[in-house]
Parts: sequence; C-alpha cells; structure tokens
Amino acid sequence: MGKMAEKIVELIDEKKVDERIHELAGIISRDYEGKEVRLVGILKGATFFMCELAKRITVPVSIDFMQASSYGGATESSGTVRIRKDLDESIEGKNVIIVEDIVDSGRTLAFLGEFLRSKGAASIRYCTLLDKPDRRVVHLTVDYTGFVIPDKFVVGYGMDYDEKYRNLPYIGVIEFDD
Ligand code: IMP
Ligand code: MG
Repeated sequence: MGKMAEKIVELIDEKKVDERIHELAGIISRDYEGKEVRLVGILKGATFFMCELAKRITVPVSIDFMQASSYGGATESSGTVRIRKDLDESIEGKNVIIVEDIVDSGRTLAFLGEFLRSKGAASIRYCTLLDKPDRRVVHLTVDYTGFVIPDKFVVGYGMDYDEKYRNLPYIGVIEFDD
C-alpha cells in the first residue's frame, strides 16, 4: 500500500468567503450597537476567520483565545473535549462571542459555551464560519453562521488536515485517492 494522495477541491472561493465575513461583521456591528464585544477565538482554526471578522466590526472589539480539542490528527471526532488553553482575560460583564471555524458534532462549542457561562459574562453568543448540521450530536443554536455545508471534510481559511492547508485563502474539500 502506497501513501494516499490528497487533492483539494475548491468549495467556497476567496471572494465569497470575504464577502460573507463582511456581511457577518455588519450584522454583529448592528446587533451590538452601543456596546463592546469580546471575541473569543477557538485556536487554531478560528484565527484566520476571527482576524477578518474583527477588522470589519465597527463597535469596540477586544479579543482572547481558548484552545480545546475533540479531534486528533484524524477526520473523526473523539467525542471528548479538553481545554488546552484557558482565557487570558476575565469575561465578567463582557458581551462574548465565541468564534469557531466549523461546527460539526457541536461538542466543542457546547462544551466551551457551558464552561464560559459560569464565568459571569453579560451575554454569550456563538459565531462560526461553517456549519455541518448533518453531523450534529449536541443541540446547539448558533447565532451567526457564515455558510452551511454538506458533510465533507474541509480545509483552508484556518482549517487543517493534520496541520496542513490552514493557510489556503479559500475553503476546499479534501479528497483522497490511492
Ligand atoms: P465538533 O466539536 O465536532 O463540533 O468539532 C469542531 C472542531 O472539529 C472544529 O473546531 C474543527 O477543528 C474540527 N473539524 C470539524 N470538522 C472539520 C472539517 O471538516 N475540517 C477541519 N476541521 C474540522
Ligand atoms: Mg478547531
């Protein structure tokens, strides 16, 4: 058995991603008018999305990061979520938006939402670039969604396969052939 070859097939091009992030930032800016927002990005996948989003939000923004993991190097979730990096700043009294690259089973966001709910935030909402609702095992209401996509493993715009392809400026589906 040789090493499998990987191929990336474009799913959402760079222009569409940028336009949609611009739209989401507009909606968030209107929803939080007169307030400040604390964006909490989930490392590492959400970083590219969060930067672009933050740059276009017009109300005052502060940022922080958490890292959780339910995935190893493979494309299937392990079912358990661990916190690898906690917040650096208190969220007490803050209007928090948790920013994620993709919601799959929903376990990561549900777990982090619960975790942050005990920290005294004024409000907590969820924002994700991509949503794969077919794969959901945990009930979750996402407040801001970039794109709903089919049940395919995607890479690019921060998302990886075995730490590769995060830097692609578009979103692609990874395909394997031998
Ligand atoms: P969940 O906890 O099952 O919702 O998984 C969410 C996390 O799994 C995301 O933060 C991603 O890191 C990872 N993930 C889920 N689906 C994909 C995918 O299609 N490509 C890359 N990473 C994914
Ligand atoms: Mg992730």
